[in-house]
Amino acid sequence: MAGDPDDAPASTLTESAGRSMRGRRRYANRRSRQLMEGRATAAPRRSADASGYGRQMASWTIRPAATVDIDAVLGLWGSSDAMPSSTDNPSALTRLINEFNGLLLAERAGVLIGTLIATWDGWRGNMYRLVVDQRVRRQGLALALVAAGEERLTRLGCRRFSALVTDTHDHAVSFWTAAGYSADPTMTRYVKMP
Ligand SMILES: CC(C)(COP(=O)(O)OP(=O)(O)OC[C@H]1O[C@@H](n2cnc3c(N)ncnc32)[C@H](O)[C@@H]1OP(=O)(O)O)[C@@H](O)C(=O)NCCC(=O)NCCS
Repeated sequence: MAGDPDDAPASTLTESAGRSMRGRRRYANRRSRQLMEGRATAAPRRSADASGYGRQMASWTIRPAATVDIDAVLGLWGSSDAMPSSTDNPSALTRLINEFNGLLLAERAGVLIGTLIATWDGWRGNMYRLVVDQRVRRQGLALALVAAGEERLTRLGCRRFSALVTDTHDHAVSFWTAAGYSADPTMTRYVKMP
């Protein structure tokens, strides 16, 4: 839709994303801006594999997904120990992209390396499917995706972000804690399958 702030091109997303976080965690803000713009200075900790991935400095582009990306997204999810769900299929992703523009992708040299679903339901903003290619982990990409998701949701009017986190997955809990999130002790997720 013309004039929809959600139509912002990838460059706008990456350049402005850190600004919405100003005043929350000063250090984290500065780092996440650098990360989203692909100019983080910390070198990856792991050694290079045959593809050379491990030696690259952090650099990527974050943009909204299009339907042509669906096969690559499902491929990444299938190979990256993401928790499978009943909506991991082309029709659900087509609806997510076309009706909600709710899927962000990270690419390096044209190759998909990360995803985040960040959706606004008119009341709250929710994040799902934060997945980073195993070859590029611990370079700050997940932080960059979350910062981009927060930026998108803030532009849509969101004032509170939520993430679904499996609390028995230590790496996921550590990540969301590092991103500035904490478990809400007053809330429990109630689920009903139709
Ligand atoms: C969780 C995940 C998205 C993290 O991606 P990432 O790009 O490696 O994360 P980042 O580099 O942005 O990490 C930022 C911080 O989060 C924490 N963190 C990230 N991965 C961690 C891990 N495996 N163990 C402990 N802490 C971790 C660290 O504090 C890290 O900072 P540091 O590297 O300076 O120590 C990635 O491991 C993944 O895709 N896992 C499989 C899918 C999944 O479980 N998703 C989460 C669903 S809730």
